[in-house]
Amino acid sequence: MIRTANKHVEYELHEMTFPSMTNTATAIGMGAGALFHPSGLASQGMKDLIIADYQRSYGRPASLIRVLRAYFVNPGFRATFLYRLANQAWRADHVWLGLAIAAYTVKITGADIQPGASVGAGLVIRHPVGIVVGTLVVIGANCTLLQGTTLGEKLTPGDDHASPVLGDGVTIGAGAVVVGGISIGSGAVIGANSVVVRDVPPGATAVGVPARLLSKSIGVPR
Ligand SMILES: CC(C)(COP(=O)(O)OP(=O)(O)OC[C@H]1O[C@@H](n2cnc3c(N)ncnc32)[C@H](O)[C@@H]1OP(=O)(O)O)[C@@H](O)C(=O)NCCC(=O)NCCS
Repeated sequence: MIRTANKHVEYELHEMTFPSMTNTATAIGMGAGALFHPSGLASQGMKDLIIADYQRSYGRPASLIRVLRAYFVNPGFRATFLYRLANQAWRADHVWLGLAIAAYTVKITGADIQPGASVGAGLVIRHPVGIVVGTLVVIGANCTLLQGTTLGEKLTPGDDHASPVLGDGVTIGAGAVVVGGISIGSGAVIGANSVVVRDVPPGATAVGVPARLLSKSIGVPR
């Protein structure tokens, strides 16, 4: 598991989770590239991540028209799309542009995802309102965030900005707060309105305030 604020390592994290390119991805990337021309911020990685986010949300291949339609009708996808742009700018050392895109994203979606956060491919945000993700948070591939999710620092003295690291396929229920330098194992589910301040093992379900682990295993909602 990678836990770092180092932009170069974050870039490698994204590279590890890229699926293969498609012609459609190339078309979308050309559009995004034109948006940023001539600074050349758009990258293959960003395009692939957007495609992966779309495909996990809709369970079908992406096309340019499908992605555009999703952007305009699906606020959660709009939030992931804009986060990808902001993160790309951040990783290209255009920090102010990344922050500006993130600020715009808050205004039009209600999701406050810091551009420096590391998020693997296949992110699904069901409803973006009230989502907060801190700069040092690491989210694995194929994770799902519900409305009101907070992932970030504990804000206690000396916590050194430690933030959660989520494995792959983690689902965070509506209103859940996950704070501090803890690990949420792959496939774990965090119940709605839970407050999680301790590690959660892979595949476990944690609920309540403070969160406790449920002994039974459950199906993981998409
Ligand atoms: C965590 C969750 C997936 C568990 O679902 P489940 O496996 O069907 O669990 P159950 O309903 O059988 O509950 C098991 C136990 O956990 C408790 N529990 C379940 N969810 C809880 C929650 N969010 N907070 C506190 N306790 C919770 C139940 O009271 C029960 O306790 P008990 O064993 O002492 O009686 C589900 O309750 C949840 O919170 N999902 C998030 C859904 C969401 O955010 N939806 C937003 C849609 S827009």
